[in-house]
This record gives sequence, structure tokens and C-alpha cells, in this order.
Amino acid sequence: MNGLEIISPEVLAALEERVRRETGLHYPPEKRKDLVRGTVAAAKAGGYSSGAAFAQALLPGAASRHLDLLVQHLVVGETYFLRDPKVFRALEEDILPALLAMATETGEGVKILSVGCSTGEEVYSIAMIADRVEQEGPRMSILGTDISERVLETARRGIYSSWSLRDAPAWMARYLVERDDGRIQVTDALKERVAFRRLNVATAPVPYPWPEARSAHVIFCRNVLMYFDMDTRRRVVDRLVLSLAPGGYLVLSPADALMAQANGDLERVKSQGASFLRKRYRTGACDSPSRTVTRRVRAGHDLGDHRARL
Ligand SMILES: C[S@@+](CC[C@H](N)C(=O)[O-])C[C@H]1O[C@@H](n2cnc3c(N)ncnc32)[C@H](O)[C@@H]1O
Repeated sequence: MNGLEIISPEVLAALEERVRRETGLHYPPEKRKDLVRGTVAAAKAGGYSSGAAFAQALLPGAASRHLDLLVQHLVVGETYFLRDPKVFRALEEDILPALLAMATETGEGVKILSVGCSTGEEVYSIAMIADRVEQEGPRMSILGTDISERVLETARRGIYSSWSLRDAPAWMARYLVERDDGRIQVTDALKERVAFRRLNVATAPVPYPWPEARSAHVIFCRNVLMYFDMDTRRRVVDRLVLSLAPGGYLVLSPADALMAQANGDLERVKSQGASFLRKRYRTGACDSPSRTVTRRVRAGHDLGDHRARL
């Protein structure tokens, strides 16, 4: 079995249709090679005699665990700690302090959701920043989700190679333990701060089934939408906006943020040199925060880059 093996165009087209419908992953003709490559790799991992036999097993009526196996081999779950430091600096310096101030005033906790979190580095980075920002008072809830159970298992273990920590600043050491095998493990205290659940964001209706994922204050969805076709991207953004609390932040990759700005409920804000989309408050609605808190949030976005770096 090798990457050049032939899967008939009819079977491939039917497979592409099922994958797109059930996962949002999009393989137009010019990217079909990637679909074949992933199918062949998944076939090997699943003990099938050929990619064609595996593809056949995935046609209508096949068990969904086959589809899970394929997704695991289609998507590169590349991620690392503090990927895009400007985003995390803005989270630490401006966004989380303002949200905590608001939570202190309203008595409600701050909820952070990561969609397409892969092996968990993004979620643990958020948890470390949350720990640095929290003082006496409300704690933040942090939930990581992904379509693939395999990456979520890695995330729950919290064990990483030094490659995942390639951009890690020195302060991160207090959240990490060195293992005898040379790898690094996040501390139990950090693991207890987060939860991981399976969520297929392309098909899951809103509201999402877990309270921590409803009326979230920050939703990360970075390097995920790019795998979807335009319709699916828009639909997913609309659902994420519905899952955000008014004034909440949607954190996307720059290319996806441009597309998402078409959603009239979002406005673009900048902080620490990073761009975010924020869900608008309804004018005059009782969900608006007090003037003091609004001032703090706005001030945060005018702070510029002179604050302490991560
Ligand atoms: C490149 S990783 C992004 C990791 C992290 N967000 C980051 O930016 O570093 C993309 C992740 O999206 C997940 N994904 C793909 N389709 C998905 C879907 N329909 N629902 C949820 N997650 C999905 C993949 O399993 C993969 O782990």
C-alpha cells in the first residue's frame, strides 16, 4: 500500500461528500491528493488491506469510528505553547483583567472555550495566563474541544516534547515538570483547571451541551476554519457568536478574522498589537456592563505595546 494507490474517482467523490457533510473538512479537486494520502494512512492504521477498501468502508452507512480514524489522518494538529505571543499578552494584560473586573461586579464566572484545541497546548497556555491574572475572587473555567478523540487523549495526558515548548518563556517553568524520559508534563494543578470534550464544531447545534461552553467570554478558534469551505466557515462563526456572551471575544487566525467581520454582531478591536473580534452589546440592553467596567475594557485596547512583555 502506498500514497500512489488508486481510489476510483466515484468512490473518492462520495468520500469527499461524506467527509465534508459530517466534519466540514473540504477537499476540492485540487486538494484530492491530500484526501487520498490521509485515506491511505488511515487504512494502514486501521489494518485495512488498501486505501480503496477503507474508502469503501466509509461510504454511506459505515460506522462513525471509521470517520474518526480518517479525520485523525487528514488534519495536521500542529500546535504549541503560546502560539502567537501577542494574543496571549493581550489576554494577560488587557482582556482577562477587564473580564475579571466585570465578573467581580456581576458575580458570574469567566468562561473560556477553545475550539479545535488539538493536543491541548493552547488550552494549557490559557490556563497558565489565567493563573497569573487571577487574584482573590472569581476563577475562570477553561474548556478545550476538538473533533478528534485521539488528540484529546493527548491533551488530557498533558505530556509534551520540547518542540511544543519552543517559544516558551522562563516563567512557564513553574507550571511544568520534567520527566525521566526527557519529556515535559504540565502540573496536576494545571490539569485540574481545564476540561477536554469532543465537539464537532461543523455539525454541533448551539447551544453546546456544556454550561461552560454557553455565553462564553472568550472563544479561541484558531487554525481550524481554514480546513472548511466558505459556507461552513460562516456557519461555524455564526454559531460561535451565538455561544459568546455580549462583549465576549472571538479569537481567530488573521485570515479567518477578515471573513468573520462580515458577521454584523462582531466588531474588530486591537490590543497589544493583536486583533480580536468582540461581540457587540445590544444598544440600551440590560446586558451592557457598568460604565466603569466598559471604561476599563476600552482603556485596555488603547494601551499600546509599552507594557511588560510575556
Ligand atoms: C492545526 S490544529 C489547531 C490547534 C490550535 N487551535 C492552534 O491554533 O494551535 C486544527 C485542529 O482542528 C480540529 N478540527 C478539524 N475539524 C474540526 C471540527 N469539525 N470540529 C472540531 N475540531 C476540528 C483538528 O482535529 C485539529 O486538532
